[in-house]
Amino acid sequence: MTAQETLQVRVVKKQTEAEGIASYELARLDGAALPPFSAGSHIDVHLPGGQSGGLVRQYSLCNASHESHRYRIAVLRDPASPGGSVAMHDSVHEGDVITISTPRNHFALHPAQRTLLLAGGIGVTPLLCMADRLARTGADFALHYCTRSAERTAFAAEIAASAIAPHAHFHFDAGAPEQKLDTATVLAAPSPDKRLYVCGPAGFIDHVVTTAKALGWAQDHIHLEYFGAPAQDTSGDQGFEVRIASTGKVYPIAPDVSVVEALRKEGIDILTSCEQGVCGTCLTRVLEGEVDHRDMYLTDEEKAANEQFMPCCSRARSKLLVLDL
Ligand code: FES
Repeated sequence: MTAQETLQVRVVKKQTEAEGIASYELARLDGAALPPFSAGSHIDVHLPGGQSGGLVRQYSLCNASHESHRYRIAVLRDPASPGGSVAMHDSVHEGDVITISTPRNHFALHPAQRTLLLAGGIGVTPLLCMADRLARTGADFALHYCTRSAERTAFAAEIAASAIAPHAHFHFDAGAPEQKLDTATVLAAPSPDKRLYVCGPAGFIDHVVTTAKALGWAQDHIHLEYFGAPAQDTSGDQGFEVRIASTGKVYPIAPDVSVVEALRKEGIDILTSCEQGVCGTCLTRVLEGEVDHRDMYLTDEEKAANEQFMPCCSRARSKLLVLDL
């Protein structure tokens, strides 16, 4: 499925961080240093057997990025999501050995005079790592962390006891109106010196990004990472064909099969990771045809350019797509 380098790690600690949220500390079996990572990185976790066997899910690293003795991830148990989070909670225990990928970063920090980190729920994980990095380097930043309630706020005590504390603002949906996130005020006065990072559920991200754009934030100063892709309406999906430019061969793509899956069956492997249109790993150039973009990774401008697409989830509006493979 993926050529990403993998390694085996042991779950050296599993801990409840908030209602429905567990953290997992992962270390090498031989105790050696783990591959380094930068703030905003994630790893693939290969979920153990049973019904979820073969599933791979991405989790952001939420420990300090200078640490090499552990990776830490946190998972919200979401019975409504297909498989991954429930399997992590119910089937992965302290002492277990699991397979992960080496870290990758599609959500890296950029130099800025001021950095705004807006977290929705479990979307705090990459931003926690960023906040730690920014605090250690004496940067000017703010972390706005929105959750339903104090009970559902992972890492609250850790943040309060850390160098992040003076920069952190907690907002509870269930709390008093005056403490709720005033997005327009927080995002007021955009400038080329500022960067905005947002991570959380799709509705939260859409609200933040829409507000930021309305206030004049430049698209390339808004960085986002979705927490899983929103559900797509696939009821009207049609079949189409894909031509591989290097060979000229044409392959049919059935209505209920992704381009990645169809080509994989023909022995043509496209590197993938999330297979949900979130991570960007499968990015493929399009030479002809019109794409029906379904991903969360490309910007609106990149989608409109119709030069590249995510074959793990996106489809075609035209009868044929010619791919630069
Ligand atoms: Fe992640 Fe396609 S594999 S976007």
